[in-house]
Amino acid sequence: YGDASQRVDYVFKVVLIGDSAVGKSQILARFARNEFSLDSKATIGVEFQTRTLVIQHKSVKAQIWDTAGQERYRAVTSAYYRGAVGAMLVYDITKRQTFDHIPRWLEELRGHADKNIVIILIGNKTDLEDQRAVPTEDAKEFSQKEGLFFLETSALDATNVETAFLTVLTEIF
Ligand code: GTP
Ligand code: MG
Repeated sequence: YGDASQRVDYVFKVVLIGDSAVGKSQILARFARNEFSLDSKATIGVEFQTRTLVIQHKSVKAQIWDTAGQERYRAVTSAYYRGAVGAMLVYDITKRQTFDHIPRWLEELRGHADKNIVIILIGNKTDLEDQRAVPTEDAKEFSQKEGLFFLETSALDATNVETAFLTVLTEIF
């Protein structure tokens, strides 16, 4: 894969969901612009960014949608999921509650998205290993039970961010 210049063969919409402050916006910033900010503000409404990649000799434009984890800032749910072919379900490995809420996010996703949507569970902030509150095994077990892909990432040091997006985009493909 690599970055393509002009022609686009496919446009894939991928949505990011999960509790507030798990790092959705910074995962997207890392993927789309290779940037990271420690004083990231809570997302209000919906934002999206795109990046065009070459996968199996085709130019794929990834259109990544990011919304607020906080209920009061969330946009219209059905519009957010409409047309999405991939979803990244994010929790923070240092905050158990954000992992415990994953079944709720999954329920919302399955209630609104296409049934063939490719879903990856992401445990973010692996750079904070000393504060880990969610064992990798718990998440692995959950993802196997639910038929999800699973990876742990760090938007801060960039670990697995590229791999996570490529896992979803390649599988959609
Ligand atoms: P909402 O928009 O409210 O839903 O939150 P969000 O999930 O988009 O979280 P955001 O990306 O804004 O990140 C929240 C905080 O976590 C910010 O202070 C980020 O800098 C920090 N953060 C995000 N990813 C990482 C990471 O991988 N490691 C560390 N140490 N901090 C991170
Ligand atoms: Mg955000």
